[in-house]
Amino acid sequence: MELALIIRPYRPDDLDAVIELFLLAIRETASRDYSPAQVAAWAQADRDIWKARRSSKPTWVAEVDQTVAGLTDLEADGHIDMMYVHPRFGGRGVGKALLSAAQSRALEEGIGRLYSEVSITARPFFERMGFTVVEPETVLRNGQVFTRFKMEKTLGQNSHTGSTQGRPANPSL
Ligand SMILES: CC(C)(COP(=O)(O)OP(=O)(O)OC[C@H]1O[C@@H](n2cnc3c(N)ncnc32)[C@H](O)[C@@H]1OP(=O)(O)O)[C@@H](O)C(=O)NCCC(=O)NCCS
Repeated sequence: MELALIIRPYRPDDLDAVIELFLLAIRETASRDYSPAQVAAWAQADRDIWKARRSSKPTWVAEVDQTVAGLTDLEADGHIDMMYVHPRFGGRGVGKALLSAAQSRALEEGIGRLYSEVSITARPFFERMGFTVVEPETVLRNGQVFTRFKMEKTLGQNSHTGSTQGRPANPSL
């Protein structure tokens, strides 16, 4: 069934909902690729730090029936720090619509390249979205070693997938 999906800018009152979906996305989705100890180390969110960071850069949420279903952002140099989808809405085009919003903004801003450090879980999603692996990385987080991938996508004239901001998004864009 097609989702009634809206992509809109993050609001400060989304804070608790985005923290909850971040934790669920790790515990229920990324947990298929990472050990319980890694999941416990990754699934930590300091509310004050989140509050400051989410408001410090363009950030979008996906909303389905008034539920916050996903989160992404865009930094001035094309870096995407956050890409998380609530497990209840996984595999239904939410991530794609979020990335489309970030990519549209990047094109408007004249940013030529998107890049991110991507989990094992998210790698096939980013590949499907046109990103390629620059290099694998090993990082230490809260005492656990993680494998992830530095990935990038060069933006050009044909990269525009259409903004979905503020109006219903077609998940099959
Ligand atoms: C990665 C993530 C954001 C993807 O979000 P999603 O809403 O499930 O992805 P979408 O439904 O928009 O998928 C878009 C496309 O990618 C493809 N895709 C997504 N995940 C895939 C997978 N694991 N394997 C193969 N293809 C995949 C979809 O089939 C779809 O292809 P289509 O356009 O041909 O239909 C989500 O799985 C998630 O939150 N994962 C856990 C947290 C995480 O690891 N985040 C990244 C931190 S770096």
